[in-house]
Amino acid sequence: MMASIQQVVFPFIVCLLHGFLICQGAITGGMLYAKESESREVKELNGLWNFRADKSSARDEGFTQKWFMQSLAKTGAVIDMPVPCSYNDVTQDRTLRDFVGWAWYDKEFIAPNSWGSTLNRVFLRFESAHYNTVVWVNSKQVVTHEGGHLPFEAEVTSLLNYGQENRITVAVNNTLTPDTLPPGTVTHKSDTKRYPPGYYVQNLQMDFFNYAGIQRPVKLYTTPLVYIDDITINTTISGSTGIIDFSIAHISGAVNVTVELFDAANQLIAKYSGTKGKLTVKNAKFWWPYTMSDTPAYLYKMKVNVSSSGVHDIYRLPVGIRTVKTTDKQFLINGQPFYLHGVNKHEDADIRGKGLDLPLVIKDFSLLKWLGANGFRTSHYPYAEEIMDLCDKLGIVVIDESPGVGIKTLENFDNTSLAHHIEVMTEMWRRDKNRPSVVMWSVANEPNSKASVAGPYFKSVIAHVKSLDPTRPVTFTIADMPFPPQLDQAAQYVDVLCINTYYAWYSDPGHLEVITLQANNDLVEWHKEFNKPVIQSEYGADTIPGFHVDPPLMFTEEYQVEFLKNYHAAFDQLRKDFFVGELIWNFADFMTDQSVTRAVGNKKGVFTRQRQPKASAHLLRQRYQSLINDTLTNCNKHNNIVKSNTIL
Ligand SMILES: *[C@@H]1O[C@H](CO)[C@@H](O)[C@H](O)[C@H]1NC(C)=O
Ligand SMILES: *[C@@H]1O[C@H](CO)[C@@H](O)[C@H](O)[C@H]1NC(C)=O
Ligand SMILES: *[C@@H]1O[C@H](CO)[C@@H](O)[C@H](O)[C@H]1NC(C)=O
Ligand SMILES: *[C@@H]1O[C@H](CO)[C@@H](O)[C@H](O)[C@H]1NC(C)=O
Ligand SMILES: *[C@@H]1O[C@H](CO)[C@@H](O)[C@H](O)[C@H]1NC(C)=O
Repeated sequence: MMASIQQVVFPFIVCLLHGFLICQGAITGGMLYAKESESREVKELNGLWNFRADKSSARDEGFTQKWFMQSLAKTGAVIDMPVPCSYNDVTQDRTLRDFVGWAWYDKEFIAPNSWGSTLNRVFLRFESAHYNTVVWVNSKQVVTHEGGHLPFEAEVTSLLNYGQENRITVAVNNTLTPDTLPPGTVTHKSDTKRYPPGYYVQNLQMDFFNYAGIQRPVKLYTTPLVYIDDITINTTISGSTGIIDFSIAHISGAVNVTVELFDAANQLIAKYSGTKGKLTVKNAKFWWPYTMSDTPAYLYKMKVNVSSSGVHDIYRLPVGIRTVKTTDKQFLINGQPFYLHGVNKHEDADIRGKGLDLPLVIKDFSLLKWLGANGFRTSHYPYAEEIMDLCDKLGIVVIDESPGVGIKTLENFDNTSLAHHIEVMTEMWRRDKNRPSVVMWSVANEPNSKASVAGPYFKSVIAHVKSLDPTRPVTFTIADMPFPPQLDQAAQYVDVLCINTYYAWYSDPGHLEVITLQANNDLVEWHKEFNKPVIQSEYGADTIPGFHVDPPLMFTEEYQVEFLKNYHAAFDQLRKDFFVGELIWNFADFMTDQSVTRAVGNKKGVFTRQRQPKASAHLLRQRYQSLINDTLTNCNKHNNIVKSNTIL
């Protein structure tokens, strides 16, 4: 029975070439967001699904009893489970909240009769399910996927009964092992005087709750037989001209391809025939972060039309024309210095866990605007595409981070882990490569970068990302608490040093007076050692809303405010030189595993988990709004100069 699970779950990846890993086989084709067009229909399968956690001692009953062969309700008691949603917090069942193993879902749906035509293909797509997933349609296995925060899909054309009921069954396993991303371990407790027989626990190496289940939407969508499989673009700027370099992949056969570019007013401004080419836009409107221009986030629309014998497939892709470049001291967007003042987030909220929730998404963007944040890091995994779309549209800059959080032990650095990490980076790039908002890739958060194995490991991962995407800088965030930069084995491979510190919190707790000095010295030292621009990618203090003590004590709102002010004093010194960004830890409180240092989760938010401001939010808002005022004044000055000069 284990063989059947293994056989489905782990795609085999190998490939060693000239000292670094190149992936083959595991990832093929594109992963264009499922959207409607003249030639495509989308049917969402969201709503209530049947749900059953496999609580058998080996968690294998679902496989041995083949639960996928019939409706789940016939195999035992099921409950209603919303999709998308994490399953952990929606019931009163503690064992479900803390469940480790295979959880099963199923849903019945009608496949539209009109889709039964031989001219269609039908795909089943999961925007994400955490962590290992196996999917069956009408009892036939159609796809497996490893990893919790990226989309996967399968063609199901020949498996559906059109105009009739169909059943989709999903098994999702949230177990984290030394080779998953994020990694974790499972400990079996064999002392039967202390633990019940077969007792085991999941140990996390990350400081957030391991929410699980089908956390993003599930969709069916159609394409014609010959269809657009992928679109890859990149943009360059020459003076006032924007150039969009594109490549279209299609399946399959002989086609005619046309690519048209429309401006925001829907006027056709450029056209090209062929699968690879360039679209040139004279007097282009560039994509700017909203803090750098009065006309930010300008999006063109690229309409791709692939036709074969009169049948067309059409896909529209928003395109922002912008460039990103780093020097030893600067982060340049469209040739101009960009200062990032933003937040770290989590896709975390009460009840729904990490389930995509559009009201929450809009609330968070409202709060970002209220704060004056001009960007965020997707700590510590890629966020939903619906969120990324809004960043493109609103001019919010994103450091797109992989789920490589907590890479600490030797096993986490072994070749199995490396191959998986490389695969995850490919999947992430494939999904987000065309997004103007994504200005940097972060391959990991706080790995043990002092370990000697970290050097070759990160050299490989970063070289792989750069081979996929030569246009964006790459980083990982370094935990400096505090160790001399000379000990770091991996920082030499990044373009921007992203440093996480918690002075007067994890080190020198309570001593606010050391923050400015330590921040200044350490940030200067890191810059000197590697000669690269520096971002403070985390700094923060746990704060229980409503706790007030003056003079400040740790965990009070006063302490968080003073803590931030002391960091800001250092930032304002260094901003004139090599310091290019600050990201508060964290935007909002979020859930963690239970531990003696976490009182109902991590409380370092400037907003509560219910998205209400603590005192620090007002301080941060004052700071960010005045940074916007500075930036806009400077940029508008520059923008006028830029128009008559070449800026790349
Ligand atoms: C699924 O969960 C069980 C229970 O935690 C674990 O033993 C097993 O290794 C997991 N399998 C996969 C493929 O994740
Ligand atoms: C994007 O840019 C790189 C060079 O910077 C180039 O090699 C590549 O072909 C470009 N075009 C596409 C569609 O990726
Ligand atoms: C491409 O367009 C030409 C000119 O309209 C047409 O003759 C040809 O059949 C088309 N090819 C395909 C594969 O549709
Ligand atoms: C990974 O594989 C390479 C090539 O086989 C080997 O030289 C290296 O020692 C392996 N690394 C680890 C950490 O096992
Ligand atoms: C920013 O500029 C606006 C308009 O000039 C002004 O009303 C506002 O007070 C300024 N905000 C800050 C925080 O400096």
